Amino acid sequence: MTLQLANVVKHYTSGSGEVVRAVDDVTLDLDAGEMVALYGPSGSGKTTLLMLAAALLRPDRGTVRFAGRSLGDLSDREASDYRLRDVGVVFQHFELMRGVPAVENAAIKLLAEPMGIGEARRRAAPWLERVGLGHRLEAAPEQLSGGERQRVAIARALANEPRLILADEPTGSLDTQRGREVLLLLREIARERSTPVLVVTHDPQAAQIADRVHTLRDGKIEECDDAAVSFADETTSGA
Ligand SMILES: Nc1ncnc2c1ncn2[C@@H]1O[C@H](COP(=O)(O)OP(=O)(O)OP(=O)(O)O)[C@@H](O)[C@H]1O
Ligand SMILES: [Mg+2]
Repeated sequence: MTLQLANVVKHYTSGSGEVVRAVDDVTLDLDAGEMVALYGPSGSGKTTLLMLAAALLRPDRGTVRFAGRSLGDLSDREASDYRLRDVGVVFQHFELMRGVPAVENAAIKLLAEPMGIGEARRRAAPWLERVGLGHRLEAAPEQLSGGERQRVAIARALANEPRLILADEPTGSLDTQRGREVLLLLREIARERSTPVLVVTHDPQAAQIADRVHTLRDGKIEECDDAAVSFADETTSGA
């Protein structure tokens, strides 16, 4: 199971007609079981790249393939099936449902299966335990801290055992130790299930934990690990 982006371009046109090339000719392959960290300054196109891999956006040029299928060529129905069954996304802003217990937020994709709510909750709960929230299953997002919400979003992305994991700043609201645990959990899942894992991050620890590191600048990908390590150094020393 691999994720392959080949010469992918995605641009946005603003109301005033200005064109932003958010992703600019990106070629990137993730193998089965491989965890890749993507660094890059704000506005460099990281979230756009993840949304392309999640089939939430279609490329303007180039191809995004998962397990050999070109995501840009899927029908709307196929794309929504892909998002439901194949991909786990940790969104940058979590996107949890207010007023809904953590365990049911985490179970949301399981509820779309022919599965009762009791069974969906039973399957989601261990994922909340794995991110250290076993004691907060019934708390709604507005009763949780920012870091706890982030961990609910991570549990939700993992609970239906996706074949591809895309995580947008999954440690942004976590302290160093929790952040490390989350990154190690993602790597463990990559290995256990041969799942490609793409993590957008500013976390300097990711450079050590990921198999490979890339930096995105102005929508273009930079190859080498060194660039990312020096970026991580800048982040640490600048903090
Ligand atoms: N819906 C949109 N319409 C117009 N421009 C957009 C849209 N979404 C993003 N952009 C622009 O595309 C570029 C890339 O945005 P993107 O959200 O992918 O960046 P990012 O690397 O995730 O940034 P951050 O680290 O701040 O989350 C930015 O210049 C942004 O302003
Ligand atoms: Mg972003």
